[in-house]
Formats: sequence, C-alpha cells, structure tokens
Amino acid sequence: MNQDDLKKQAAEAALDYVESGVIGVGTGSTVNHFIDALASVKHRIEGAVSSSEVSSERLKRHGIQVFDLNAVGELALYVDGADESNGQLELIKGGGGALTREKIVAAASRTFVCIADESKLVEVLGGFPLPVEVIPMARSYVARELVQLGGTPVWREGFVTDNGNLILDVQNLEITDPKGLEQRINTIAGVVTVGIFAWRPADVLILGSAQGPRTIK
Ligand code: 5RP
Repeated sequence: MNQDDLKKQAAEAALDYVESGVIGVGTGSTVNHFIDALASVKHRIEGAVSSSEVSSERLKRHGIQVFDLNAVGELALYVDGADESNGQLELIKGGGGALTREKIVAAASRTFVCIADESKLVEVLGGFPLPVEVIPMARSYVARELVQLGGTPVWREGFVTDNGNLILDVQNLEITDPKGLEQRINTIAGVVTVGIFAWRPADVLILGSAQGPRTIK
C-alpha cells in the first residue's frame, strides 16, 4: 500500500463518526478522500462547513451543501488531516495553507477526528516546517521574530491564502512545548495563525497503516 492508499483508508474509517446535522470538513489530500467517501453517506447529514474554497468546491460537486459557519451552531464533528501529530494528538497543520479556517472550525467543533497515514505520527513536532499565516506587510518583521525563536522561516512564495495573507514555513524547530510555542507565536504582531494545534488538539487520530486503520484517543 502506498501513502495515498493509507490516507484513503484513514479517511474511509472516519465515516464511522458521521452521524447527522452539519459537519466540519478540513483540507488536503486525505480530506479529499474523506469528501469522496462522504458522498456515499450524504443522506445522513444536512451538509458541511468547509475550511477552504478547494474543499467547498469538492463538497458541492458531490451535491453536499456548504454552510457558512456563522449560520450554524456548534458542530458535532470536524474531520481534517495533519502534517504531523505527536502522541498527545497535538498537531502541525497548514501544509495546504488553510490553517486559519481549520483552526476556527476545529475550535467550533465538539469532536475533532484527525485522519492521516501513519508516517505523520512523530515523537516531537517540528520535522515538518511549521506554517505561520501572516499579514502581508508584516512578513519580514514576523520572519525576524521567528528567527529569534530559533527557527528558519521560508516565505512560501507565490502562495496567497483564502484570507489574502502569506505563509512563512518555519524550519529547524524542535517543538518540545507545543502549547507554549503556540501561545508565544500568537503574540507576534502580524501573525494571523500559527499551525500548531495544541490548545485545541485532535480528540481522535485515525492512522492508515498496512495492518489496517489504527485509532488513538
Ligand atoms: C492543510 C492541512 C492538511 O490537513 C495537511 O497539510 C495534511 O495534508 P494531506 O492530507 O494532503 O497530507 O493542514 O492546511
């Protein structure tokens, strides 16, 4: 099984959590498999709140109604991928650049089910460059501040988020205190969102593996 097969396996296993109402749907190649699988059970739900324009388009192509988060109350379920997870289900997200809306939808949801292939489970976060969404005029300032924190920020050139902002991918961070670093980076003026999801981690992690889906809670 290749990595994409494992992503699909995890995505299909997440269907067990889909009950009713409006659900939250994230972004990325693993979530694309989830959206495709969701189409087969779309009669169970009213629709979805999506974390990106790309996912919204895919949901609509499957005939799944997309709601504005402001039009619905708390979501029972959010399903999204991750770039890395540690054993506490603290995550790095934002490889696809949708981290701000992902963090909002995760915050507004009761249960966050994270789907990934097993290579995403790590001991210590930071092997994957940490995405930070910044206001365009603050790019250089925020980059200098991130250097002070020990990282090596790289501007994701040519990429603009759905919110009209930029992404700095911060290399060389060994994130031993995810909550502390999330809080610290959030205090830098010009930062919109940091891709550490530690204050609102996943509740359930489903990992695709050669032995079948493995669930960590
Ligand atoms: C997008 C994300 C994705 O969930 C993350 O990048 C994982 O992507 P993939 O499922 O393609 O491996 O955070 O902003």
